[in-house]
This record gives sequence, C-alpha cells and structure tokens, in this order.
Amino acid sequence: MTNLNSTQPRSKENWNSRIGFVLAAAGSAVGLGNLWGFAYRSSQGGGAVFLLLYVLIVLLVCIPVLVAEMVLGRSTGSSPFLAPLNLGGRVWQPMGVVFVIASCGILSFYAILMGWTADTFFHSLFFGLPENIQEAKSFISSVSTGSSVFLGQLLSLLLTGIVVAGGIKGGIEKLARWSMPFLFGLVIILAVWSATLPGAWDGYQDFLLKWDFSQLLNPTTIRNAFAQAFFSLSLGIGIMVAYSSYLNKKNQLPKESLVIAGLDTSVGILAGMVTFPIIATFPQVQEAVGDSFISTLFVALPTGLSSLGFTGQIITILFFALAFIAALTSSISLLEVPVSSLIDRFGLNRNKAVILSTIFVFLLGIPPALSEEVFGNYSNIMDVLLLLGGFLISILLGWFVTRKYDEDLANSYTNINVRRYLRFMLRWISPTAISFGLLITLYDLLGLKEIL
Ligand code: PHE
Repeated sequence: MTNLNSTQPRSKENWNSRIGFVLAAAGSAVGLGNLWGFAYRSSQGGGAVFLLLYVLIVLLVCIPVLVAEMVLGRSTGSSPFLAPLNLGGRVWQPMGVVFVIASCGILSFYAILMGWTADTFFHSLFFGLPENIQEAKSFISSVSTGSSVFLGQLLSLLLTGIVVAGGIKGGIEKLARWSMPFLFGLVIILAVWSATLPGAWDGYQDFLLKWDFSQLLNPTTIRNAFAQAFFSLSLGIGIMVAYSSYLNKKNQLPKESLVIAGLDTSVGILAGMVTFPIIATFPQVQEAVGDSFISTLFVALPTGLSSLGFTGQIITILFFALAFIAALTSSISLLEVPVSSLIDRFGLNRNKAVILSTIFVFLLGIPPALSEEVFGNYSNIMDVLLLLGGFLISILLGWFVTRKYDEDLANSYTNINVRRYLRFMLRWISPTAISFGLLITLYDLLGLKEIL
C-alpha cells in the first residue's frame, strides 16, 4: 500500500536555486540528440513534416508527461528506482527497473559517441581538418574501432563520474550553470555564421521548408518524430524523477517544463541551422550525409569546413567543444539515475555508487563499441523503452494517483485551469498517442510491413 508520509527524502541534498534546476534539466535535454538527431532524422526524408510532428508531440504529448515525471520525483523525494513503488505500490516496481536499465543502456552507447566527439575535437585542434571525404572516413574509422574507441568511452565515463560524485549542488548544478549559457551563446554564434554561407538558403529549404505531406503516412518519419521527442527531452526513463527529487515546493513545474522544452527545441533547430547550410554549401559532403548519423556529424562537417582553411578549423573546434559539453550535461543526468537509486535502495555513499555504476555502464558499452550493428540495436531498444516509460508514467499519474498529481501542482500554486488541462492531456491524449507511437515503432523496426 502506498504510504506517502513515510517516504522521506533520502538526504538533505537540494538544488541551490530554481534556475539551477532548470538549467540542469535543460542540460540533460540538450545534447548530442539535438546536434545530430535533428539533422540526421530530418535528412532521412521527413523534412519539415518530421519537424512539425516533432513539435506537436513535444507540446501535446510530452509536456504533460514531463510534468508528471517531475511530480513523481518531487512528491516522493525518492530515486527513480523506488519512486514508482512509493507512489503506486508494489505492482509499480517494474517501472523503476525499466528506468534504471534504460538509463544505463543509453549511457553505455552515449559514452561511445562522446568519445568520438572528443577525438574529433582534439584531431581538429592538433592536426587540422580532413581534406576530403576519404580522409575523414579513415579518421573516423580509426577512432571508432580498436582500442581508441574504449579509451574515448572510458575517459568520457570517468569525467561523467567525477561530476556526479561532486553531488547535486557541487557537481551537476555547478557544471550546468556555467556551461549552459556558454552553449547557447556558441550555438547562436555558429548559426549566425552559417547564415552567411552561400548555400544557407538552400540548406534551410531542405531542413525547414521541404513540405512533403505524404511523409505523414511514412512509419519511419512518425517513429523518428516520437523517438526524437522523447530522447531529446530525456523523457520517460526517470531522469526528471531523479532531478526533481531534490526540489522543493517553490518550483512551478508546468512553467519550468515549458522553458526546458523550449530551450531544447530551440537548440535543436539552431543546430540544424548550423549544419544544413554547411551541407548545402559544400557539395563534396553531400554524399556522406544520410549514410548514417555518424557521417552527418563526424564526416560531413569537418570535411566541408576544411575548404575554408583556418576559419573552418576554428568553427570545427568550437562545434565539437560545444557538442562535448552538451553531451556531458546529458551523460551526468543519465548516471544520476543508477547512482541515486543505489544510494536510495542500498544506502551506499555517493562515491561508491558512482564507481559501481560507472563500471557497470562501461561493461554494458563493450558490445556496441565493438559492433555498429549492436550499436544500432541498442539505440532502437532504448527508443522503445523511452516510449514505454513515458506510457507507464502517464498511466500511473493520469489514472491511478491523479489526486497526487493535482495536489502536488496545487501546492506549488499552479492555476486551476492549467491543472485541469494537464490532467486531461495526461489521462487521455498522452497514453493514446504514445501507444500509437509504440505500435508504429515496433511495426517499423520489426519490418512488419514485409510480413503483413
Ligand atoms: N537528451 C539527450 C540528448 O538529446 C540524451 C538523453 C536521452 C539524456 C535520454 C538522458 C536521457 O542528447
């Protein structure tokens, strides 16, 4: 049976300020998903229809779930592993398990991407840019295979572990506070620079303005829009539960969710406005785009920019610095899920929890580091778990403990009409739309089209 009064916050840890929480949550949301996900997924054929679907899903489906995930954390003060149990009772325990598995799974391949990002950064800094696609491809295959892939992955995980060991205020909030403004500034500067390229307009047309309404019926476009929305918002796997468990009643969650989603979407669109003009301007990179997401980011950009000489090198260095910092503020949020769960469930101290979780995630990352196919499978499975987690959250808070959802928001002075709206959406729209997204995802991934 639920006994909310007995659920005490496990520690005295708290955010220093409201803005600190918002920046950390936005830091989790803004990451490699914004920098390559948008560009890659919309270049898979969806174009502007993909973007429209993405925005609609974020606004109508994800925001109510985001608020619910935060309520789950704040009202229980528990880690993602225990929060569902504490709010909904024993039968909800598996949801906590899904949260921990999905976070560790995503971090295991995210750290590999971070390693490539760091390698590309150092390579452009010390050795300059590749002159042609061939050179770029041989560079990326040299860092993405053999022992260097493990080195990059390990160092990224170590850095992530160091920040998380610093705790909420001293580690996570501190990093978010200085890095997020820097990151926003940088992506705006890069977008403005990109706008001066001769192919800028063509680039925008490909990205933002290519309306092909038949895409609305394309399962891959629909799956991409759902996956991008949940992945990009870090939604459905307990990240927001972990971060919100350190909150107090003052935070107005609906407003803050809007700010987080707004920042996340803006950075995604801005990143597209950086990359698409580059792609459209340098014809030699076009063949590499769309091959795979790796090509878009790690091959096309540096090769295209190399024809600009020194300016191109500076832009590349800045871009990959930006990408790495964005990734780090996301990876720390992923690690916080198993770490806070170990602290909460087994009473470990933070350092021990960080060490154990980091080792576990590193081991989990070995198969995808060795095989591109396994990497792709991991990523597809995680897309399914993100949606599944989001679905479970909407059912728990929209159907089983709706009063708790409402009470928590009322206590933090959320207006009655906003509460009514959110309740309605969480109960009816989110679970229906997510089930549809899940079905389409499974249909598309399992190749049922060919079977049926
Ligand atoms: N949202 C992050 C990004 O866009 C990645 C992430 C996914 C982080 C899921 C946490 C949970 O890169």
